[in-house]
Amino acid sequence: MEVLILPTREKADLLAARIIANYLRRKPHLVLGLATGRTMERLYHLLGDMHAKAGLDFSLCRTFNLDEYIGMPPESQYSYRYYMNHHLFSRINIDPRNTHLPNGMAYDLDAACTKYEDEMVECGGIDLQLLGIGSDGHIGFNEPLSALRSRTRQKALTPETITQNAALCGGEQNMPKRALTMGVGTILDAKRCLMLVTGETKAKILAQAVEGPITSMVTASALQLHPHCRIIVDEEAAEHLQGKDYYRWMFRSEPEWAEHHDLL
Ligand code: GLP
Repeated sequence: MEVLILPTREKADLLAARIIANYLRRKPHLVLGLATGRTMERLYHLLGDMHAKAGLDFSLCRTFNLDEYIGMPPESQYSYRYYMNHHLFSRINIDPRNTHLPNGMAYDLDAACTKYEDEMVECGGIDLQLLGIGSDGHIGFNEPLSALRSRTRQKALTPETITQNAALCGGEQNMPKRALTMGVGTILDAKRCLMLVTGETKAKILAQAVEGPITSMVTASALQLHPHCRIIVDEEAAEHLQGKDYYRWMFRSEPEWAEHHDLL
């Protein structure tokens, strides 16, 4: 695991966008795993700008989202399909047929989950999985006690997650209680993971995930098992990290990061 500490939220977002753009330029057929949430909105905005101003080309890119609410129609403004269309897909030159989200409206939800896993395999697996972190430490919607080898499946949301996400759903009355989500095992199968975490509200849970024990109580801690996982954070989110001096030193001294030192 590598933790990259950037001075501000804006610079953290920009580094994440640059890393994604570099992967895409090197491999136009990139299979990109996508996340939702407020943190990702800013990142998607930057990717939209890179497409508009620098010609970043998504025409061959395939995407798979981490999760989708159960029973939320794709045309609803609160669905993750709507979120993705609005914040990213409509702003870049991606072929909509290459964009995938779990089907939370399926009659047979378990079959939809199996199909989703099969589609990822058919595409050769996820090259780069983008991740945020929930306030209870979840990745995707892998709430506490999610098996660390779990696959795409139905998951009940915690009251904490329901409260957190209700603001994006126009209040708790619209907020689904269940979702389909890639499992922790599905996420760990991605060739590379890139997590973006900003703001002081995430500082304590981030420290638990990165430096605490690997536990299904904080499913982001399973990323410690991943051989290629990078976590980009701003100073606020880094507040409780014990190893932050080492992480800063690494960003300043590893040659790989030299081209991004303008962000320091
Ligand atoms: C939702 C998503 C997660 C995401 C989280 C963080 O719960 N299922 O994948 O990481 O939101 O959201 P925010 O960036 O708004 O804090």
